Order: sequence, then C-alpha cells, then structure tokens
Amino acid sequence: MSLRGVLNADSGKGTINRNIYGHFSEHLGRCIYEGIWVGEDSPIPNTNGIRNDVVEALKQIRIPVLRWPGGCFADEYHWKDGIGPKETRKRMVNTHWGGVVENNHFGTHEFMELCRQLDCEPYINGNLGSGTVQEMSEWVEYLTFGGVSPMAELRTHNGRKEPWKVTYFGVGNENWGCGGNMRPEYYADEYRRYQTYVRNYDDNRIHRIACGPNSDDYNWMDVLMREAGRFMDSITLHYYTLPTDNWQDKGPATGFDEQAWFTTLQKALRMDDLITRHRTIMDKYDPEGRVGLIVDEWGTWYNVEPGTNPGFLYQQNTMRDALVAGLTLNIFHKHNQRVRMANIAQTVNVLQAVILTEGEKMVLTPTYHVFDMYKVHQDAEMLDLSLDTGSYKLDGSDIPAVTATASRDTQGKIHLSFCNLQHNAEAQVTIDVRGLNGNDLTMTGSTLTGDRIDAHNTFAQPDAVKPQPFESFQLDGGKLTVNLPAMSVTTLELVEKA
Ligand code: AHR
Repeated sequence: MSLRGVLNADSGKGTINRNIYGHFSEHLGRCIYEGIWVGEDSPIPNTNGIRNDVVEALKQIRIPVLRWPGGCFADEYHWKDGIGPKETRKRMVNTHWGGVVENNHFGTHEFMELCRQLDCEPYINGNLGSGTVQEMSEWVEYLTFGGVSPMAELRTHNGRKEPWKVTYFGVGNENWGCGGNMRPEYYADEYRRYQTYVRNYDDNRIHRIACGPNSDDYNWMDVLMREAGRFMDSITLHYYTLPTDNWQDKGPATGFDEQAWFTTLQKALRMDDLITRHRTIMDKYDPEGRVGLIVDEWGTWYNVEPGTNPGFLYQQNTMRDALVAGLTLNIFHKHNQRVRMANIAQTVNVLQAVILTEGEKMVLTPTYHVFDMYKVHQDAEMLDLSLDTGSYKLDGSDIPAVTATASRDTQGKIHLSFCNLQHNAEAQVTIDVRGLNGNDLTMTGSTLTGDRIDAHNTFAQPDAVKPQPFESFQLDGGKLTVNLPAMSVTTLELVEKA
C-alpha cells in the first residue's frame, strides 16, 4: 500500500499537553499493592516502601501526572483511614475489587511520596458518592493548608509539617454508575455544592474536575456543562475499548484472531468521534474553551488472565495494545485544544498496564514502549500533517490503515509517529515536507512490531517485543518516504543541522 501526505513543518497547531501522557492507579487488584507499594520491610528493593524498579521505569517514560485512589474505589475511600501509624489504620474489604482486605497502608502520605519519587503531579480523586462535603473539604485542607487549622495540625502530627502542592482534584468518579448511580441533574447540583468547599489555600490553586460522561452519554455532558460548567476547570470522559459488545465475555488478551485484532482497533478509533461530539457540546456552553476535557480512564479491557481473581482485572498486553495506545495518543494530539489530560487505565498489573510484576520480577509491556517512543511529543507543538490514511479492510468493514502525528519540540527537533494498523501488510508513506531545509537534516528512527498479532512480553521472555532501530526511510528533495512494517508503531526524529 502506498500513501501520500504533506507535513507543514512551519505550521503549529497548538501544544500537546504533557498530561495527555498521564496514568491512573487505583486500589484494585495488584496495582497499588505489589505493583507499586511493597512496604519498607519487603525484600524487593524499595524506597520508603515503594518499589524502585517500577519508579525507575515510570520516570523513564516521563510520567507527568498520576490519578489516585480510583476509580470506583474513590467513592468508597475515606482518606482518614489511610493516615497515621500503619498498625492502627483501619482494615476494610475492597468490595468493588476482588473482596480482598484493604489495610490502608498506602494512603495520602504514601501517594504523595510516590509522586515525589516520580517527579510527577498528583491528581487526587475525592469521594462524593459516599463521603461528606466536610470529609472532602478536610482532605484538601490536610493536603494544602500551611496555616493554623485542625487538619494542618493533624498532618504535622503525622510527620509532615509543610503542606503539599496539589493542583488536580476530582469531585467524584463515575457518579452515573459506581459513584452513586446519579442522574446528571442531581450530580450537577452535588458537584456545585462539594466543589464550593474544595478551597484554595495559600498559593495553592486547585483545578476542579467534574465527573463527566461514560462514552457516548451526550446528555450527561450537556446537563453538566449547562448546570455546572462555570464551576469547573475540567470535565472527564471515560471510554474503554473492548473487542466485543459483551461485558461478560470481552475476549482474551492473547490468543485472539484477526477479526478481534481488527474490531479492537476499530473500537479504539471511536475515541476520535466521541471527543469530537463532546467537544461540540462543550463549545456550545464554553466557546472560549476554558473548560478542559480530561480522558482520565481509557484503554483496553479484556477477560482476565485464566486462573486470576476476576475482580483484579489482570490482563496481558500485546502488539494490539501497542496499536491502541499509539492511535489513541494520535487522537489526543489532534484534539489538543480541549484534551488537556488523559490517564491510561491502569499503571501496573491492571487493564492496559504499562508494567506487569510478579514478585520481584517486572516486565515492560508493548504499551510501555509506545509511551517511551511517544514521550518526545510531550509539551511539543503539534504540526500540520495531513495524510491519506488508506483503507484497511476485513470482512466488509474498513478502518484507516495508517494514522500519524507530528510535532516540534522546544529544541526544534521534529518527531513523526506512525501507526500501521494492518496486521498483514506493510505501508509505504511518502510525505512532502514543507517549511524545512530538506537537504540539511539528520534523521533517526525506531519501530515497535511483533512476529504475530498477539506478540507480548512475559517474565520468561521480557524482551520479545521492544523497539528496534529503524532505517527504512529516505529523504529526497523534500520528499520523505517511510516503509512501515505491518502492525507497527514507528517514530522518526528529524533534526535540522545548525
Ligand atoms: O479502571 C477500572 C474501573 O473502570 C474504574 O474503577 C471505574 O472508574 C471504571 O468503571
């Protein structure tokens, strides 16, 4: 397949907010416990109870922001259970996720320590579903107030005198479902009430985030923007990619067929349409674009790995997930005017995880490698790239064969990323590069591909899928020709010689 495109390297299309590369970690399965928190006494190398290998890996991909403690767990979480001496912290059953005992050893101080180690921004999700206004208000006071107050005193008593800096605060999660089964009109009023007491202390400025719709619930977005738009800084969107329409049998994470590959990518591409339609509603109430759209839960959702707790949502991660990640990030770039943050679900051992762990072992998934290859786009200026995306057909349906994005970073380096969605065919892309001195460039590249559609990394073979140097491109007289392998994610770097 031969495709053509044009890159206007001198035409910027807005900044790609680095927070689009954010993550989400919930008290669910082995995400927090085992995946991140092992405790100070663990034989697994850790710093203040947080495993070093996972922190190093997440720093490598420049994780910008981390959402916690849920998810559905957030609306059952009472933050005071997770502070003070660990031996006296309340134990509870995590009713949503696997019915296991939650000992609250990972709480506010531990999460803020994790963000310190990662050098990323915290995004804390408050409890509106089953918590009180006072409880939410006091959490913000505990976190951010440096003056004299009961919560500042309690924090000091627990070993932390200085307040933390917290910008992102969510007022409830999925309040149309696990967060209270509310109607949008009711939640809009509750949101208005709760957020009133989410205060700015000292010079800390909270970015208030309202619970937005589930996938294509346009009515929820309309009601929230109409009734509460002026009280929020951002609103969320959740959309998960399932290979089937059946939540009882979503399909396996590995060992799937070509049809499942195709359908999964087709469904992931829906993100573009969802954002476009939600943006239209937001534009109606907020034409200046003040309110951001935060896609704080996205990713693939399959049947759990055989033999694992169904409530733990543990799944493998293959080249199919790599393509979902790449094409979704391309979509977020395209919508950078409204999409200011996104958080893949979830960081470690849950759903489309970038990292899997087993005891002291750790594996980086194909999705991790995409985040690593794409980190060059963080905070870069998106460039005007138009591409004939071609057509990838299977059984009478068709989707784009290739999706792409381009940006220029603050040092002037240009990066192009391509996703070849076709499981069985290469694609040759020829791009007219304009606005550059085409003869005076150095170019390098890397590509991620696999030997089969479910290629993945295991604890026995952790490097089966990893990026390889890529040289199948040439630049000739302002024409860039790239030969993309089947089922691949590729990033090129173009540097103008001084
Ligand atoms: O990410 C798993 C769950 O999916 C989250 O807890 C919830 O918000 C969503 O339904």
